[in-house]
Amino acid sequence: MKLRTHVSSLKGSLRVPGDKSISHRAIMFGSISHGTTLINDLLESEDVLATIKAFQAMGVEITQKAQVTKINGNGFEGLKQPGVSLDMGNSGTSMRLIAGILAGSPFEVDLVGDESLSRRPMDRIVTPLKQMGVSISGHEKKQFPPLTLKGSRNLSKITYHLPVASAQVKSALIFAALQVQGESVIVEKEMTRNHTEEMLQQFGGRIDCEGKTIRVYGKEKLKGQEVTIPGDISSAAFWLVAGLIVPNSQIRLDNVGINSTRTGILDVIREMGGKLLISHRDEKNQSASLTVSSSSLIGTTISGAIIPRLIDELPIIALLATQAQGQTIIKDAKELKVKESNRLALIVSSLKSMGADIYATDDGMVINGPTALHGAILDSHKDHRIAMMIVIAALIVSSGQVHLTGEESIKTSYPNFFNDLEGLIDG
Ligand code: S3P
Repeated sequence: MKLRTHVSSLKGSLRVPGDKSISHRAIMFGSISHGTTLINDLLESEDVLATIKAFQAMGVEITQKAQVTKINGNGFEGLKQPGVSLDMGNSGTSMRLIAGILAGSPFEVDLVGDESLSRRPMDRIVTPLKQMGVSISGHEKKQFPPLTLKGSRNLSKITYHLPVASAQVKSALIFAALQVQGESVIVEKEMTRNHTEEMLQQFGGRIDCEGKTIRVYGKEKLKGQEVTIPGDISSAAFWLVAGLIVPNSQIRLDNVGINSTRTGILDVIREMGGKLLISHRDEKNQSASLTVSSSSLIGTTISGAIIPRLIDELPIIALLATQAQGQTIIKDAKELKVKESNRLALIVSSLKSMGADIYATDDGMVINGPTALHGAILDSHKDHRIAMMIVIAALIVSSGQVHLTGEESIKTSYPNFFNDLEGLIDG
């Protein structure tokens, strides 16, 4: 498709869709708890639908009416062997967390995914789940999907130091540990998003978190709850950057989730001199309104413990850096290579094609700015966040047209993305 270019201003306010990570977990906890769970403002995107369909295939009753999703759960024991392979589509979160949930189910299941998910490493969950007594295998050394899994009612407790900073691996192990009597210990490499830990407490589970050490106490009975999903800061990120780099702009995003394990991008915007206002804080729902306006920006260094707090925002942060004065260095971000695409390579090649001064390093990238961007012919490689980054970059090109293929991948996390953009252009 030919993208919108030469936009002179973005104005207005909007509510971004529900948080993807929290939406997955709400469906999962509802499905493994006893009784009714009601979820308000669930993200209705392809990834979350993959999680819903998987639990429906295992006999869980899940219905959606207006903005409310209702689940009738019968605990871990209520999950039944599905008659089909469970198709996780593009969703790494669905595959890895559901593998942890099925660790205690004594039936065989095949977990399959699309072309992109079939290239993502599963050894990171296969190794610890095997240690706990799960029979699980994928393909080649990295244990690529499809995965064949057979859980066990006699899992062993685990003490495990995560070799990668990954909330998906951590969460898979928490779900598995919930099905073992006694205490399991998981130690993170870096602190990552803590939605599983928080929601587990809400559903009545026992977990202690102290710094990077997490203790999970298994066999507690989980009870259905009412959950309200805040807006996804990872989706808001595209509008935050658009508002900062398109001239004459002001954008307000309401009800955005601001759990501190997710707000690295806000710290980076401030560090780069971006105009950002946080208002209407709702402590209970961990949300706030975020307002940005066009800003003069300066380069910065992004590395270490902040990386997991903004890992999904690095494509759009790289675009931001192309418009900042001076050098931006991104380090410690090797994980970008194993996301929905090799994001490290794709961020660099897409922005370079548009005229950015950017190069990849072993674990990140270096960007020199500011540069005027120009038209290009690009493909998303089926990666929703690369596609959205390119759409925002197109808004500021100073010459030429931008053609993007593979834009349908945006439905993975943000089905209404193009409508929301049009609303801001008319602002
Ligand atoms: C997620 C964790 C992160 C993130 C992904 C969602 C989650 O992945 O990139 O989009 O919901 O737990 P990793 O665990 O692979 O870092």
